[in-house]
Amino acid sequence: MENILIRTETPREYRETENVVREAFWDVYKPGCDEHLIIHKLRQSPDFIAELDFVACDGDDIVGVAICPKAKIISDQGQEFTVLSMLVGVLPSHQKKGIGSMLINRVIEAARSLGHKGIVIFGDPKYYPRFGFRNAMDYGIQTSDGQNLDPFMALELGENSLDGIRGRFHEAPAFQPIRDSAELAAFDMQFPPKEKHVTDTQLK
Ligand SMILES: CC(C)(COP(=O)(O)OP(=O)(O)OC[C@H]1O[C@@H](n2cnc3c(N)ncnc32)[C@H](O)[C@@H]1OP(=O)(O)O)[C@@H](O)C(=O)NCCC(=O)NCCS
Repeated sequence: MENILIRTETPREYRETENVVREAFWDVYKPGCDEHLIIHKLRQSPDFIAELDFVACDGDDIVGVAICPKAKIISDQGQEFTVLSMLVGVLPSHQKKGIGSMLINRVIEAARSLGHKGIVIFGDPKYYPRFGFRNAMDYGIQTSDGQNLDPFMALELGENSLDGIRGRFHEAPAFQPIRDSAELAAFDMQFPPKEKHVTDTQLK
């Protein structure tokens, strides 16, 4: 993808990127999506890290985004450790061309150079191991309700940087699924009309 430029995002591009995220996630995990509102709220929260907010540009158009906000691991003893989570989306018209990989590699490299210890995600266990992600169980990290699942993975950013960081993973408050359907509907009205569909790929 020689014409794709990966760079950090500027605040005046936030709405365009929210639309890219809306297009990328639409109907994938549920009818419609809430990820565009999640990133909108995240950017106003202290857990947003502007240096870890990358966009992929095809000419003047933004076609993909990767954002790593802060997250926490809380040990059984109540000790808190800061790690990162990650959201990545590429316009359906631009998927399977390597853009997602370019974005993920870039955000990982930036997170590493900022000295962060690890990234914890829920994602496709067939896709993320190519970037070094392993089942979070290997690091003694569980979901917030104490589970380990195939899609729940962690990436160590430095040598043994997750050593001693064990416990339950908590995403940033602004990175949680949107529970207020009226708020989501009102926000969605600010974007082009789009029909929601039930599809077989949606996770239950
Ligand atoms: C997940 C997502 C970001 C991946 O983006 P992408 O740009 O399609 O990613 P890539 O192109 O790097 O890789 C996707 C596939 O295309 C393949 N691919 C990469 N370059 C390719 C090329 N030039 N030609 C053909 N295939 C290619 C990759 O090998 C990979 O294949 P595989 O999944 O069968 O192993 C994108 O599918 C998306 O936005 N999904 C919806 C939102 C989502 O679920 N996000 C992740 C959760 S946060």
